[in-house]
Amino acid sequence: MSSRVIYPGTFDPVTRGHLDVAARALQVFGALEMAVVRSSLKELAFSAEERERLVKSSLIEAGIPGVEVTLFDGLLMDYMRSTGAGVFVRGLRANSDFEYEFQMQLINRKLAPEITGLYLMPGESNIYLSSTVVREIAALGGSLSEFVTPSVEKALREKYSRGTSGR
Ligand code: COA
Repeated sequence: MSSRVIYPGTFDPVTRGHLDVAARALQVFGALEMAVVRSSLKELAFSAEERERLVKSSLIEAGIPGVEVTLFDGLLMDYMRSTGAGVFVRGLRANSDFEYEFQMQLINRKLAPEITGLYLMPGESNIYLSSTVVREIAALGGSLSEFVTPSVEKALREKYSRGTSGR
């Protein structure tokens, strides 16, 4: 099995739920790359570079050292092949995640049968979190510190105090 393990995501923005999954993956594998997808079919609040920067700062603030953070374009399976990665990890929060992840896993397996997806359950305090919920709380001026790191909170406050929601 390849020792290179990737945690891919949009991370728009990264939350304490994502960091929980990253910490668990790091504990299991000893090394981890968080790969931030550049573009998405979703309308994104933060640019790719902002999302990458916030993942990096959040890992430091959460005390999770040694995780590499990268940006990637195109298909995840193509990116993983190009870097020699054999495993990707994703968080599974609830039933609602299962259908999407199941479909992705099966399609990705068709694209790259040699690559395996593994799923980790975040801690129960993060199970209800999502980036959309966090952006909504920021837009409505609510408290964010329980859900995101200080750098993400600051970035959200700046974004939503300007009344900007697009990229
Ligand atoms: N804690 C909190 N929230 C979590 C979470 C966790 N542990 N895990 C997922 N989420 C939430 C995110 O906050 C996000 O919420 P939102 O929809 O409200 O914004 C949502 O779940 C999923 O976001 P994220 O985990 O950041 O990634 P994604 O599902 O948007 O991206 C990729 C998944 C990047 C792996 C996928 O889009 C991809 O592979 N893209 C490249 C193109 C490709 O290969 N496509 C596949 C073709 S088969």
